[in-house]
Amino acid sequence: MSTDPRTWRNETLLAPLTRGGTLPFRRLCVELGARITCGEMAYAREVNRGSPKEWALLQHHDSESCFGVQLAGSSAARLIQATQTAAEQGATYVDLNCGCPIHDTTRRGLGARLLQKPPKLARLLQMFVDGSPLPVTIKIRLGWETDQPTAREIARIAEEAGVSALTLHGRSRNQRYSKPADYAVIREIAAERSIPVIGNGDVLTWYEAEARREGLSNLMVARGALIKPWIFREIAEGRELCLTATERLELYLRLARYYREHLGDGERGQRRAWYFLPWHFKFFHRYRPLPAADWAERAAEYPLMQTRMPSDVPDDPLEALLQSKDEAVHEALAQILWTHSAGTLSDALPALQALAEAPPASGHPATEPSPAG
Ligand SMILES: Cc1cc2nc3c(=O)[nH]c(=O)nc-3n(C[C@H](O)[C@H](O)[C@H](O)COP(=O)(O)O)c2cc1C
Repeated sequence: MSTDPRTWRNETLLAPLTRGGTLPFRRLCVELGARITCGEMAYAREVNRGSPKEWALLQHHDSESCFGVQLAGSSAARLIQATQTAAEQGATYVDLNCGCPIHDTTRRGLGARLLQKPPKLARLLQMFVDGSPLPVTIKIRLGWETDQPTAREIARIAEEAGVSALTLHGRSRNQRYSKPADYAVIREIAAERSIPVIGNGDVLTWYEAEARREGLSNLMVARGALIKPWIFREIAEGRELCLTATERLELYLRLARYYREHLGDGERGQRRAWYFLPWHFKFFHRYRPLPAADWAERAAEYPLMQTRMPSDVPDDPLEALLQSKDEAVHEALAQILWTHSAGTLSDALPALQALAEAPPASGHPATEPSPAG
């Protein structure tokens, strides 16, 4: 496929996801149908300082043929320098984060803060695009405040500055996830622009993707991919793939293997993987089959991502284990998968079944991780 964002049509992009969108996770998503991927947000200033933590965010797997590095920055010179490094590392595009709502980012004048002053952003984008060795895309929200939406103006400014594509998350900074993404506004803005406008927010099923894609062409999926990385295949095939507990465990084991290959064997590898692997279950445990026949009508009224899903404890012990919200269960699952990550699921099944019979209980339900965009 073409790596030029201007040519993207009918694509479903994997969103930038801090802590979740790691190289091993993206590798899994590519195998499950993702064609365009993006790294976790990296601070341009830290990239330029040579911070190993930030440089790690520029790495991609060989299978990622269209890979973007997402940068947070507000100085064109810094962004250009960091993009040069990203290009040398093999990125095919660079995305400017203009949506991160987190205080630590916005207090430095970065992320969603850039939405507040469109003329300043216009100058930044013009200089960045002119000096960037890679095509520049941007990811924005409707605005900082709901009653002061700046997205329409910013989309125009971005196109005039030569930005190649724009992702619009259909919520303001202050809304966080409280309201459904506003696709009516995303569509209006897309209709006014000639560059691809990628719609983002609340896609959990293939039929929601189909409905939201109307008038837009491209979509970006974030939490939907963290909950079920096979969503890309579902969307491409236009049908629900209801994976059993064992089929899901096969994928989670593969993910553990990719973490091992990426971060290394042994204690050091496990210590590094431990920041990520149990964390993934904060999203994996939310998976529920949502066949169109039962759910499509409800999804048309309100996004399923925002809907409280049935929480009856399933009869199958493995299924109940995978739906557990308990952090102690997430840790125990990660431990078994890591231990058996060089082998097959049949090696891991006895330990998983034993865990399912007597799951630990910390009493700490996993909280929804805070978003960065
Ligand atoms: C755990 C998590 C981490 C995120 N990290 C980033 C990030 O690094 N950069 C970014 O632009 N957006 C980030 N986001 C926001 C998503 O990319 C996306 O815009 C948002 O979740 C809405 O899409 P969704 O409804 O499909 O989840 C993050 C979201 C989550 C849940």
